[in-house]
Amino acid sequence: VVLPGFPQGFRWGVSTASYQIEGAVREDGRGPSIWDTFTHQPGRIKNGDTGDVACDHYHRWPEDVALMADLGIDAYRFSIAWPRVQPTGRGTPNTAGLGFYDRLVDALLEHGIKPLPTLLHWDLPQALQDAGGWMNRDTAYHFADYSAVVTARLGDRVKSWITLNEPIVHLAYGYAFGMHAPGEALMFDAMPVAHHQLLAHGLATAVLRGSGAEEVLIANNCTPVRAASEQPEDAAAAEIYDAFHNRLFLDPILLGTYPDLSAMGLPADPEFVEPGDLEIISTRIDGLGVNYYNPTRIAAADPAATGLPFDFREFEGVPRTAFGWPVIPEGLTELLVGLKERYGDALPPITITENGCSTADEPAAADEDGTVGAVHDAARIEYLESHINALYRAIEAGVDVRGYLTWSLLDNFEWAEGYSQRFGLVRVDFETLRRIPKDSYHWYRAALAAQRKG
Ligand code: FCB
Repeated sequence: VVLPGFPQGFRWGVSTASYQIEGAVREDGRGPSIWDTFTHQPGRIKNGDTGDVACDHYHRWPEDVALMADLGIDAYRFSIAWPRVQPTGRGTPNTAGLGFYDRLVDALLEHGIKPLPTLLHWDLPQALQDAGGWMNRDTAYHFADYSAVVTARLGDRVKSWITLNEPIVHLAYGYAFGMHAPGEALMFDAMPVAHHQLLAHGLATAVLRGSGAEEVLIANNCTPVRAASEQPEDAAAAEIYDAFHNRLFLDPILLGTYPDLSAMGLPADPEFVEPGDLEIISTRIDGLGVNYYNPTRIAAADPAATGLPFDFREFEGVPRTAFGWPVIPEGLTELLVGLKERYGDALPPITITENGCSTADEPAAADEDGTVGAVHDAARIEYLESHINALYRAIEAGVDVRGYLTWSLLDNFEWAEGYSQRFGLVRVDFETLRRIPKDSYHWYRAALAAQRKG
């Protein structure tokens, strides 16, 4: 394995999310989440898949922790299922649900793995959705209360927290276009969802810090935006898309202002932004979580025709993942250097909280005893190696990056794609739930061991 030597103390790890791996959706008092509701609606998810069982991590977590320990990671990003902790999203905590994360945290610490929980990775309690979900400002205050409940139980051992996962994706896929839960297609009427998630993040940041957190981050999906041509219309459309996808969630947090989205027909001063909100939203964070998969290519479009002032274009002549996503590692360097140029001293240290690819794995014929079917996922190794190198170039260019967490430890429930997209270092056989480390697992393990030797 040939990787450059990263700075001392750089944290290597893996990421997962509750609904994608846990299963056990009705156990120990867990309430329903919007993803339970959504996956059980006919036609929503490929092959009718649901997260009812997923990787059964809720029961098999000791095996998964053992896999992580053997991998030699420094940090594990997982998410806490709000409906396990508060089945209806508010009120008396469910101690059995909290107990699950309590045991998980202890086991991680025993193995020297730093827990990095995300408080919400999209699985909002259904009862809060019934009251409007993120369209309702109250959800932000419920989230702050929930944060207090979680840190009261785990805060003695967990010092680093991520508030929300990818508010842009939840806004766009969940509320504007409708391919994720809760399945709303409100287009730009969904904008309160952006603001209320940001408000929730700010309120929770203060709660977490007040209860002894040393590090509070948010995990944003960030993409470098490239214009499809040198035509000024395309360049302008790319800027609009950049403002919508990236700046809408970074400017308020880092600068305390919203970007100008008037080109999308949005008012400069929407009524759902109340006095004082931006001060709360810009509460200092200690790190920015960046989820990077690929750049985005944008051309101008006629809003009268499509409803949008921009249109997506494919990248030509690049490799693609099984999902069809373009593989462009330099996009990661471009993104990070661009963030540093844009935000300067306002940019906190960065952790890559997700990066990875899906591959069309087929295990080689099982060994005679039927135990291990090897998975030769050379494409994932190449993806990881090239992206980690691209990350290193950003560090060389002066960007302060403190960690890299790959998506994902396990093949898991990939939202609208169900189990058809496999992102794991470890294969999960969804019939038997057997875990089979892939070649990429062994590669990452060797890479991490080499980093430790220096
Ligand atoms: C991200 C999600 C994560 C996973 C990857 C592939 O947008 O945060 O849960 O599904 O995509």
